[in-house]
Amino acid sequence: MKKRTNMCGDLRKEHVGRQVTLYGWVHRRRDHGGVIFVDLRDHTGIVQTIFSPEETPAAHKVARELRNEFVIGVKGLVRPRPEDTVNPELSTGEVEVVGTTLHILSRALTPPFQVEDDTDAGEELRLKYRYLDLRRPVMQRNFRLRHRVCLAVRQYFDREGFIEVETPVLIKSTPEGARDYLVPSRMYPGKFYALPQSPQLLKQLLMVAGVDRYYQIARCFRDEDLRADRQPEFTQIDVEMSFSDEDDVMGISEGMMATIYREVGREIGLPFKRLSYTEAVGRFGTDKPDTRFGMELVDITDLVSQSEFRIFREVVETGGIVKGICVPGYAGASRRELDELTRFAGIYGAKGLAWFKVTEKGLGSPIKKFFSDGELERLRDAFSASQGDMLLMVADAPGVVADALANLRLELGKRLQLIPVDKDELVWVIDFPLFEQEEGTLSPQHHPFTAPRDEDVELLETDPLKVRARAYDIVLNGNEIGGGSVRIHDGSLQQRVFKALGISEQEARDRFGFLLDAFSYGAPPHGGIAFGLDRIVMLLAGEDTIRDVIAFPKTQKGACLLTDAPSSVEPRQLKELGVKLDLG
Ligand code: AMO
Ligand code: AMP
Repeated sequence: MKKRTNMCGDLRKEHVGRQVTLYGWVHRRRDHGGVIFVDLRDHTGIVQTIFSPEETPAAHKVARELRNEFVIGVKGLVRPRPEDTVNPELSTGEVEVVGTTLHILSRALTPPFQVEDDTDAGEELRLKYRYLDLRRPVMQRNFRLRHRVCLAVRQYFDREGFIEVETPVLIKSTPEGARDYLVPSRMYPGKFYALPQSPQLLKQLLMVAGVDRYYQIARCFRDEDLRADRQPEFTQIDVEMSFSDEDDVMGISEGMMATIYREVGREIGLPFKRLSYTEAVGRFGTDKPDTRFGMELVDITDLVSQSEFRIFREVVETGGIVKGICVPGYAGASRRELDELTRFAGIYGAKGLAWFKVTEKGLGSPIKKFFSDGELERLRDAFSASQGDMLLMVADAPGVVADALANLRLELGKRLQLIPVDKDELVWVIDFPLFEQEEGTLSPQHHPFTAPRDEDVELLETDPLKVRARAYDIVLNGNEIGGGSVRIHDGSLQQRVFKALGISEQEARDRFGFLLDAFSYGAPPHGGIAFGLDRIVMLLAGEDTIRDVIAFPKTQKGACLLTDAPSSVEPRQLKELGVKLDLG
């Protein structure tokens, strides 16, 4: 085989007159009975090659056999395209290659879908034939972007004095809140390894070990319900630093994000805004707010607590709240649209959606009669509403109100194109509560090694739900792209947190005795963070799902359609592991 001289996407006017050898896939072949045009594709782009029956009869004869996705080698001469056939859509559109020699290196069956950016193939088909899907230029761009992000991240941490340490994938179960993937042990029948939900405990051990500054591009495994931004195995940029507080970790993180943005030719402003958890939930209804647009939540609980509208009054009397958003220019919405929005809010638990149109005659609504003129006036003021706006309100328990309005805000933001999509906003959400409560039992908001704020420590025993954590999440355009905390490095404080969580001393020893032991041999104060690499690359690439930035992702149901995993195994394999199936 001749050595390749150029990549397909590289050829420009300045190559005119050169002999080149190219390799790639037949993107398309057009045969008009005479000259045959073959668009040749590799990961750098597409170039037009042509084969003429008069000038190069041998090559032309081979070209007649070509079909889409054949792998070929072409030797030929670069020449300018005639003026009227220049293709401005292609980076190589000013030239073409007159093929003198053509080799078929590999034939291909007719692909189940066109290898093109605008494919109409469904995702199932794309995942089943992932190797064809990945040939599409957009996918090539995505995982080359991913590569560059990883490279920039590694160089950044290296410059900052961090070292990458690999932690094991077969470990003892770690608590991160999701279900573990378990791996049965052959040598210890009846015992199991767990795949790491994150390297959390291991990176803390590395701090005790004196590594000082650690990072790792680490694979994590979580057996949880999947969504567009969740995969059962995903990749974290995992970071831990000794002798550091939250400002150090946030500073290093901001530097990393700025480096990533610079790598893709974009700039972001430093430092990032910080919002407390309470403020984020208050203003946006969520701890991962999209701060690129307004339409913030307004609390009107006090304002309507005395109104004649029974639903509002009763909710307030029973400890609930009433909040709303002002949707700009939406007063023209039809009853059908409003009914549909009411159903939408219902998905998040709202029992109804009260609305007021702001017209030249004041506020208009079927429930207007329950409000005094003064109340209507104050409502309008509270929302700073202008003529043509629409007020939407939900009365319920605080959690339901926040969830319903947060989702309505986002949905309407998208529908009415209020979100500046060419802008990126990164914010920190800080001061999370240390614990959350579900059905009377406390669980850690993040994980049980997160330190409480010094001034809140004494509330651990008396009012644990009021204790704030030294934790921080980083949110990009409403997506949680990372989270971390300063850790507890003091055994007695750790015991108090376990106690608040209802974890007995014995249970703590059984589950994380090794970490507690390590802490009794000199643990430096430390803190860290982990970023969702897949989510960062997804957002940079402008994709809607992390599946589009993972080479071989699983479906929403956790299956690999390409290799057919998970699959049954031989009875012999189970026997060796001492595993018996009980499929009920
Ligand atoms: P956490 O659980 O918040 O923290 O995870 C950190 C980040 O990882 C990403 N992420 C995911 N991405 C894709 N698919 C998933 N299933 C998935 N789950 C999480 C998110 C998230 O912000 N050990 C701690 C970090 C620390 O305290 O240092 C941890 O794992 O972007
Ligand atoms: P109803 O009296 O049930 O017909 O409700 C009158 C209006 O109040 C309708 O527009 C309902 O959608 C709305 N509504 C009912 N319950 C709530 C609630 N919990 N919060 C906000 N609006 C509500």
